[in-house]
Amino acid sequence: MPAIAADVRILIDLEPVAADALDTHFRTTVDWYPHQYVPWSQGRDYDGPLGGEPWDPSQRRLNAAARDGLLHNLLAEENLPSYHRVIGDMLSLDGPWGGWVNRWTVEEARHGTAIRDYLVVTRSADPVLLEDTRAAHVQHGYEIDHRGDLIASLVYVTLQELGTRVSYQGIRRLCDEPVCEALMRRIAHDENRHMLFYRTILQACVRMHPDRTLQAVATVLRTFRPPAHAAPGFGRLISSMARSGILSPEIYHRDIALPFLRMLGALDTTGLAPAGQRAQEEIAAHLEESADRAGRYRALAERLGRLATA
Ligand SMILES: [Fe+2]
Ligand SMILES: [Fe+2]
Repeated sequence: MPAIAADVRILIDLEPVAADALDTHFRTTVDWYPHQYVPWSQGRDYDGPLGGEPWDPSQRRLNAAARDGLLHNLLAEENLPSYHRVIGDMLSLDGPWGGWVNRWTVEEARHGTAIRDYLVVTRSADPVLLEDTRAAHVQHGYEIDHRGDLIASLVYVTLQELGTRVSYQGIRRLCDEPVCEALMRRIAHDENRHMLFYRTILQACVRMHPDRTLQAVATVLRTFRPPAHAAPGFGRLISSMARSGILSPEIYHRDIALPFLRMLGALDTTGLAPAGQRAQEEIAAHLEESADRAGRYRALAERLGRLATA
């Protein structure tokens, strides 16, 4: 069967699972309102038509680590029009799949709105830079790396939702600002629920197509890059997040790779064909490498920390 026809078949087979997962999502949803997480009383007019005070770096309140984490995540959140298109193309906009894509879009839009309003009102980021980078990033568009491979795309979005949750939890830990902490808790909760929806789908994929799913997992782990990889300043922001511990190699290993592979039972799946077994070996090697990288990174960070305090 051609790959695209096979993927349509898989989507049809998975539809009852998606319908149940969407029901659970709606049943357990608690709506929230971005405007309630923005300290509007701290705001004042900017320069331009209102003749207020221009932005200046000295006005920033958040520490650099939390700020860089928010700037990176905001770039990703604000490219939502592209993601909506890509995920709609991948899953379709019909039936439960369409219901999910639209609901997910509703929730993701809250994140971008709340973070941008928070940063602009508290003057924690340059509002001109925010708008210029958003414009460049949205103009550039986005294409998922695994277009044409449904299961790999599902692996990608599951991993992405999990990684995003972990990054918001990291920003919450570091930000040292109660309103930001509350907002990060709220958003991380949403990201977790997005991950849970996809996890349910992916677990069904492992049951129905174990060899292909493990091959997809191996491919995505090997090639993963965050969706904002083409955004202006991405390299600096992602390095800052690694240094601060929002998304370090240790965090990747402990809070993303390990739980992700455990939730799929990727290393415990039996009865695989040779291609699935090879993928399983590749996944095990990835995990070993990631443990190794995490250890080396920790040792380096400790050495640099000792040097800094010596
Ligand atoms: Fe989000
Ligand atoms: Fe999400």
